[in-house]
Amino acid sequence: MALAETIKAGPTAGPLDHVPGHMGMPIFGNSFEFLRDPLGFHQRRREQYGRVYKYSILGGRTVALCGADALEYVLMDQDRNFSSRKGWGVLQQLFPNGLMLRDFDDHRSHRRIMQAAFKPRPMRDYMLHLNEGIAHAMGAWAPSERFEFYPAIKELTLELGASVFLGLKMGEEAAKLNQAFVHEIAASLAVLRRPWPGTPMRRGIKARAFLLDYFRDLIPARRAGDGDDMFSQFCKATSDDGAFFTDDDIVDHLNFLLMAAHDTTTSALTTMIWAMAQYPEWQDAMREEVLALGTEQLDYDSLDRLEVTERVFKEALRFRPPVLILPRFAERAFEFAGYEIPGQTSISVSPGLVAMDEELWKQPTLFDPDRFSDNRAEDRSHRFAWAPFGGGAHKCIGMHFAIMQVRAFVHQFLRHYHVALPADYQNRWQAVPIPKPRDGLPIILSRR
Ligand code: HEM
Repeated sequence: MALAETIKAGPTAGPLDHVPGHMGMPIFGNSFEFLRDPLGFHQRRREQYGRVYKYSILGGRTVALCGADALEYVLMDQDRNFSSRKGWGVLQQLFPNGLMLRDFDDHRSHRRIMQAAFKPRPMRDYMLHLNEGIAHAMGAWAPSERFEFYPAIKELTLELGASVFLGLKMGEEAAKLNQAFVHEIAASLAVLRRPWPGTPMRRGIKARAFLLDYFRDLIPARRAGDGDDMFSQFCKATSDDGAFFTDDDIVDHLNFLLMAAHDTTTSALTTMIWAMAQYPEWQDAMREEVLALGTEQLDYDSLDRLEVTERVFKEALRFRPPVLILPRFAERAFEFAGYEIPGQTSISVSPGLVAMDEELWKQPTLFDPDRFSDNRAEDRSHRFAWAPFGGGAHKCIGMHFAIMQVRAFVHQFLRHYHVALPADYQNRWQAVPIPKPRDGLPIILSRR
C-alpha cells in the first residue's frame, strides 16, 4: 500500500520495510539485548545502519533517529507532530496526567501555571529547606571504610522531596510516603503491566491511590496557609492570563513531579560522588573552591560561584545521563535523513548517544570536565550536543532546581567529608531504567 493511502486509511501504523534494522525475536523483539547494554545496543546499530533504523522493545516497534540534528528536529517539533504523551505511554497507568504526559496546547497551558513555582522567589525558599535537610544528613552520616552511598543518597533525596515539594516534616509520615513512592516507581518500570494480585503493578496502583488521597486531603490547608513548599505554590500558582490548577491537577502534577525529580537527581549525585572518588584531583579542586566561599552552607546568591563543580556536574551528566532515551510518537508521516517515516509510529532520540558522538566530543569515553571550559567548549559544537535535560517544549522544568540541589549537597559534603574508592572497587552500573551502581557504590567516607 502506498504511504499516502496508509495515512488516509486512519491511525494504523504504516509499513517500515524500507527502514533498515531488524526487530529481533517474536514478542520479545530486541528487549534482552537492549536491557543488557542500552547504549551499546544503539551504538552498534548506529554504526551498522546509519542515522535511522528500526528496533523493537517488548513487542512495540520503534524508529530511532540518531544525532544532535535528530534531537533538535524532534524536540523542537516545529510541526507539532511528536506526542510526548503517547511516546511515554509506559507511564500512562501510574502518572496519567503528569506534565510530560500532556501535549501541545494542553501541555503549554499547564506548564505556564507550573512555571510560577520555579521562579526565583520560591526557589530561594526551597534552597533554605534543601540546606537544612542536607545539614541534618551531614551530621548523621557516620564515617566508614565501606559506606554505601547510593541507598544513603536515595533516602536523603526522598526526605528532601518530602520537605521541599510537600512541606512535610521528616519523620514517620515521610517514611510512609516514601514507601508508596518506591512502589509507584517500581510499578512504572515493571515488565508485567497487568495489576494482578501480588504484582508490582498492583502495589503501584494502590500506592498511587494512597498518594493522591493523601495530597487531596492536604489541599485545603495548603491553599489557606502561607507555606513555602512546592505543594503550596501549586495551590496558588496562576499563569499570566490568570489560569490556575484544579484539585485534580494539583495531585496529579505533584505525583508526577516527585517521580521525575527523585531517581534522576539521585543518579546524578551518585555519578558525581563516584567521579570525586575516582578522580581525587577533581575532588580537591572542587573542595578548594567550596572552602574559598567560606560559608557553612551554600547561599542562593553564590550558586554561580562554583565553577569547577559546574564543569564536573556537566561532565557527570554527559558521561552517565540519567535519561538516556526520549520516546515520542509521530502522529503524522514525516521525513528525516532521506527516510519517509509513516504516521502513527513510535520514534526515539537519544541525548545519551549524542553525548558519546565522536564528531562532537573529543575522546568521549574519557571523563574530562575540562571539555566544558571556555577555551574548549565542546558542548557548544551543536545546540543539542549536551542535552541531558532534553529541550524544546518538554525541557526539564526542574533543571535549575536539580542544579541547585546538587550544588547545595556537594558544598556541604565536601566541607565535612573526604571520599575515596576501596581497593577492590569494580565499576559496575545498571543502565536502565535509570543508571544506578549495582553494588550501592561502596565508598571510604572519612571526616575532614
Ligand atoms: C539531574 C536531574 C534531572 C534530569 C537529568 C532530568 C531530565 C529530564 C528530561 C530529559 C526531561 C525531558 C523528557 C522528555 O522530553 O521526554 C525532563 C522532564 C521533566 N522533568 Fe526533569 N530531570 C531532572 C530533575 C528534575 C527535577 C529535580 C524535577 C522537579 C523539581 C524535574 C521535573 C521534570 C518535569 C515535571 C518534566 C516534564 C516537563 C514537561 O513535560 O514539560 N526533573 N527531565
